Amino acid sequence: MTDLSATTGVTDRLSGTAQQEPGRDNGNPDPIRRFLDQYNPETPCLVMDLAHVRKRYRQLRTALPDARICYAVKANPTPELVGELVSEGASFDVASPGEIELCLAKGAAPESLSYGNTIKKRRDVARAFQQGVRLFATDSEADLTNIAEVAPGSQVFCRVLVDNTGSKTPFGRKFGCTPAQAARLLVRARDLGLDPCGVSFHIGSQQLDPAAYQHGIAAAARVFADCAEQGVRPRMVNLGGGLPAEYTDTAPPLADYVTAVERALERAFGPQRPELLVEPGRFLVGDAGVLRSEVVLVTDSCDGQRRWVYLDIGRYNGLAETEGEAITYRLRTSRDGDPAGPIVLAGPTCDGDDVLYQRTHYELPRTLRGGDHVDLLSAGAYTASYSSVGFNGFTPLPTYCVDGDQRP
Ligand SMILES: Cc1ncc(COP(=O)(O)O)c(C=O)c1O
Repeated sequence: MTDLSATTGVTDRLSGTAQQEPGRDNGNPDPIRRFLDQYNPETPCLVMDLAHVRKRYRQLRTALPDARICYAVKANPTPELVGELVSEGASFDVASPGEIELCLAKGAAPESLSYGNTIKKRRDVARAFQQGVRLFATDSEADLTNIAEVAPGSQVFCRVLVDNTGSKTPFGRKFGCTPAQAARLLVRARDLGLDPCGVSFHIGSQQLDPAAYQHGIAAAARVFADCAEQGVRPRMVNLGGGLPAEYTDTAPPLADYVTAVERALERAFGPQRPELLVEPGRFLVGDAGVLRSEVVLVTDSCDGQRRWVYLDIGRYNGLAETEGEAITYRLRTSRDGDPAGPIVLAGPTCDGDDVLYQRTHYELPRTLRGGDHVDLLSAGAYTASYSSVGFNGFTPLPTYCVDGDQRP
């Protein structure tokens, strides 16, 4: 095992990057696999290809040329990755003081940050304002009052609650208000001396139905119209996140989402096209990461039906999104090609809920045994950032970055 340094968590706690991808040749399009083969890092670990993140950012930039792209840092707060997006000219959707500090430390300008969490402490709003942040999401009178008092004159956008049907990980009812309430809040924002700049929504993460954007855009248009009646003119629509990564269910291509957005904008706003902001998380980083795990044990089930495959990665050290089997990662093993059979996949902890897939049909090679590797593909989003600090003594998931475009 080579001694590697990885980065974990929101702050630069550990040194440097396991970096680069030495000896890349043009014949090998998979720098992550080369890194894993060459360094054989301790498992479990996440490996991110920064070149892939750049590619996705540029793809979105081209597809929505007039939209401000705010990377949702929560999807993957690896410092190198944030730094890479700063270099690309991205803006950032941040949810906490920790994410603000991370972005600033990686060179982001404070005016490129959007404090997109509607649930924030008054003192955290004050601190963000002192650090230069001037754009805040809100969806309640209490939060709006805090913003007006400790971040005077700032821009605020109001989040509306929209239908999340089609999303693999919907938001429920935690965030957002009705269009009528949003209009009232934006008018109140004006009265409090703030700049009521727009409306946001989130169609639910891993949204597989591009038409979902219609609900949000139509709701935003209703808010704009209500506000206009009271002399307030919001100008921006924040499309939120929702763009998908590639799991076992095939997602529509980006072009379908862009078409849906453009049609909905045309229908709802006509020639008065608003300024656009988009907050992609999963789309930028999901497919850029591979999570390498090791098989701990393979056992026969008591009913003799399916084998149980236990990995050293589970619900608590990175795979939180397998809850409810919502996100179904594509798997790759070192024994692919051998005859396969149905399995239940589970994590390593002494916790009965640490089962990844038992309803979803998965098959793995019958030859698979302890010590073999299982790679979870497209695992770059909401994995390392969700990993616990030490449940059952398992350490947080380390992240390594490679750069598939980097020459030796
Ligand atoms: C406010 C906000 N914006 C954007 C995102 C990113 O969503 P996604 O990863 O689906 O692009 C999230 C995710 O939770 C969010 O809470």
